[in-house]
Amino acid sequence: MNLVYLTSPKGGVGKTTLTANLAFALQRLGHQVVVMDLDSQNSLRLHLGLPVSERRGVAAQSRLDGDWRNQVLETPTGVGLLPYGSASRAQQESFDALLRQDPDYLAQRLNTLLNQPGCILLADLPSGPSAALEALKRIPALSLVVMMADGSSAATLPLIESDSFLGPEARKGAFYIVNQVYIRSRLNRDVTEFFEQRLGASMLGRVHRDEAVPEAQASQRSIFDYAPSSAVIQDLENIARSISRMLPDAFGNNAMKFSLK
Ligand SMILES: Nc1ncnc2c1ncn2[C@@H]1O[C@H](COP(=O)(O)OP(=O)(O)O)[C@@H](O)[C@H]1O
Ligand SMILES: [Mg+2]
Repeated sequence: MNLVYLTSPKGGVGKTTLTANLAFALQRLGHQVVVMDLDSQNSLRLHLGLPVSERRGVAAQSRLDGDWRNQVLETPTGVGLLPYGSASRAQQESFDALLRQDPDYLAQRLNTLLNQPGCILLADLPSGPSAALEALKRIPALSLVVMMADGSSAATLPLIESDSFLGPEARKGAFYIVNQVYIRSRLNRDVTEFFEQRLGASMLGRVHRDEAVPEAQASQRSIFDYAPSSAVIQDLENIARSISRMLPDAFGNNAMKFSLK
């Protein structure tokens, strides 16, 4: 199974942006990548060159049974997308209710995709606890917790370490990414160092802050194309290589399984 999901107790840390950028980085390593949007903001599609008018998605229609491999949209980037969809409040609530009532609903819909050799499924989640996070925790996966190098992300660390956010199983297999690190900021440097010491081998990497990231997003271009010399490129490549090494079946063979630690 090649499921990777991005989560964080705090919003605005860069999960959606990182999901898209890591998808591009993994694709450049030769992987076939599908991203899944489980956030009602439904914004991942905009990172992949799809228009605002694209309203389809797994939550935007009533109970979507069957194999979700058939729901994957092709995007101009070559990365496949399972969108959340432009869902009304009532549709969002019934999707959440479905995930709660039928805990294996997502696992069953994703079964074929997850068993497709060589395919990586990267899922973007809303911030904090959610029905979608609970559903994903039931599937063997690599969980990536995204944080920023500031006081409020540092303050969420005891919550993550206490198991109340991810639960004991998912927390054991969790890795951490510090995003938007501004190296000229003393606070950013100090907090990043604190994370590195505290998290040890579970720290997967850091990503620099660069205005080119939101600029690339605004112009609907990949950061790899928009700013190939940005320090962010190197950061993304390092993290993508680590993810690729840890996943079983990522190239269709049984490579090491979550063994970076
Ligand atoms: N490495 C980065 N450098 C600069 N800005 C970034 C970086 N990563 C994300 N951002 C910006 O941070 C904001 C929040 O990102 P987003 O991906 O929407 O966060 P989340 O999904 O966690 O709520 C966006 O405006 C995005 O462009
Ligand atoms: Mg988001």
